[in-house]
Amino acid sequence: MPFRTGLLFVLLLLCDLCAGQVPEFYKDVQPIIHANCVPCHRTGEAAPFALITFEDVTKRSKFIKQVVSSRYMPPWKADNHYNSFANDRSLSDEDIKTIVGWIDGGTPKGKQNLKAEQELQTRVNAGTAYKRKPDLALKMKEPFMVKGDAAERFVMFKIPFELGQEANVEAIEFTSNNKKLIHHANFAIHPVADPAIDLNNTVDFVDLSGPSGDKYYEWVKYKKEMTYYGGWIPGTTVETYPEDMGWIMPKRGVVLVTVHFGPSSVDAESIDGVNIFFKKTPIKRKVKVISLGSGGIGEKDISPPFMIFADEVKSFRLRIANNQPDVSLLYAWPHMHYLGKEFKAYATTAAGDTVKLVHVPAWDFRWQEIYKYKKPLLLPKGAVVHVEGTYDNTAANPANPHSPPELVMSTGNMRSDQEMMTLILMYVEREAGDENLVFKWN
Ligand code: HEC
Repeated sequence: MPFRTGLLFVLLLLCDLCAGQVPEFYKDVQPIIHANCVPCHRTGEAAPFALITFEDVTKRSKFIKQVVSSRYMPPWKADNHYNSFANDRSLSDEDIKTIVGWIDGGTPKGKQNLKAEQELQTRVNAGTAYKRKPDLALKMKEPFMVKGDAAERFVMFKIPFELGQEANVEAIEFTSNNKKLIHHANFAIHPVADPAIDLNNTVDFVDLSGPSGDKYYEWVKYKKEMTYYGGWIPGTTVETYPEDMGWIMPKRGVVLVTVHFGPSSVDAESIDGVNIFFKKTPIKRKVKVISLGSGGIGEKDISPPFMIFADEVKSFRLRIANNQPDVSLLYAWPHMHYLGKEFKAYATTAAGDTVKLVHVPAWDFRWQEIYKYKKPLLLPKGAVVHVEGTYDNTAANPANPHSPPELVMSTGNMRSDQEMMTLILMYVEREAGDENLVFKWN
C-alpha cells in the first residue's frame, strides 16, 4: 500500500474510533429505543421486558443487535412499498447503524441525562402508552378471574360513568393489568342521558361463553345509541385523532368492554378498562368507524362463502360500495386470525383510479396494527372497497391452532380458532382542503 494511502487509511480508522464517532446512549440511542421499542417494551404491555433505562438496554445489547439487524424488531408487517403510514415504527437504516455502532463500540453511556426516562417512567406508572396521563381512567369494578382451564372465554364488562360535563376526546386506549391473557378486546361507548335509567342495577359482567350468558339482555336499555367503538389486538397502539377531529364523550352512560381471553394454563386476574384523553380545542369533525367483512357489514357477501377445508390454502374477497358522501380516511385496521397469510385492501373509483388502503404480505397474528394515514385518504362516494384475504389451513402453517387441520369458518362468535376477514375503517366526512392536509398525529 503506498505510504500516503496507508496514512489516510490509518487516519480514517482512528477517526472512526475517535470519541465523536461512537454513538452514545443518552444522546443517540435512547431516543430511538423510546420511540420505537418502548410502546411494547414496558410494564403491562405485550413484550416480556422493559427497555427504558441504560441498564435495561445494555443488559440485552447482544440480543438487541441481532433483532434490529434482522429487522425482527420492531415488528412492522405492512408493505411500505404499497402504502406508507404515519405510525410506521420500522427502523431506518440510519437508526440501525446507530444502535449497532453503539453496541460494537462498547455501549458508552455518554453524558447522563435521566429526564427522558423519568418522564417515561411517570407515564408507565400512570398506566398509559400515550404521551401524558389520562384525563379519565375507567376500569371495571372487580377483577375478573380467568381460570387456568385452557378454555377460551368471551366476557363483557360494564363500566358506568357520570362526568361533570361532556368532553372532547383526543385519544383513547384499552388498558389491562395483564394483556398477555387477552386475544383481543373491543369497547363501545353508549350514552345514557335519561336519569331514570339506572346504570348500576344490572350485572357488572357477563361471561358470554358461560351459563349466565343471557344476562347480557339486562344491558339492552343502555344500547340505544353508540358514541364510539374501538378495540385492541396484540401490537396495537393508542387511538388518537388529529387536528379538529375526534368524538365527544357523553356526560353519562356505560362503556361495554368485550374481552376475548385466550386459553390460560394458570389462574390469573384481569382488570380491564379504557383510558381517555381530552382536548381543550373544539371538535369540528366527528370521527366515525365502520367494520367491513366478518362480524361487520357485508359478512354474507364474502366470496366464495367463508369456509376453509382442512389442508386448504384459500383466498376470499369482498366488494362493498361506499354509498355515503365522500369521506376522508384516517385509519385502516385489518384483522384476521392464525390462518391468515396475506391481507390486501384497496378501493376502485368511478373515475377508474385505485386507492391503495393497506397490504400485509406476510400476515402474523401476533403483530396487528391500526395503520394511520399520513394524509386524509379520499374514498369518494360510489367507490368500491375491495378486501382480499388468503388463509393457510395446512399443517405447514406453524400458527394453525388445529393439529391435524380442521374445517374453519367465519362465524359470528369470533372464536380465535375460527377465522375472520375484517377491515375496520375510521373516517371523517370529506371537506374542501383535505387534499392539502397533512395530519399532525399526536
Ligand atoms: C409491537 C410491540 C413491540 C415493539 C414495538 C418492539 N418489540 Fe421487541 N418484543 C415484543 C414481544 C411481544 C416480544 C416477545 C415475543 C417475541 O420474541 O416474538 C419481543 C421480544 C424482543 C426481544 C427478545 C427476542 C428473543 O428472541 O428473545 C428483543 C431483544 C426485543 N424484543 C427488542 C426490541 C427492540 C430493540 C425494539 C425496538 C427497536 C423492539 N423490541 C420493539 C414486542 C415489541
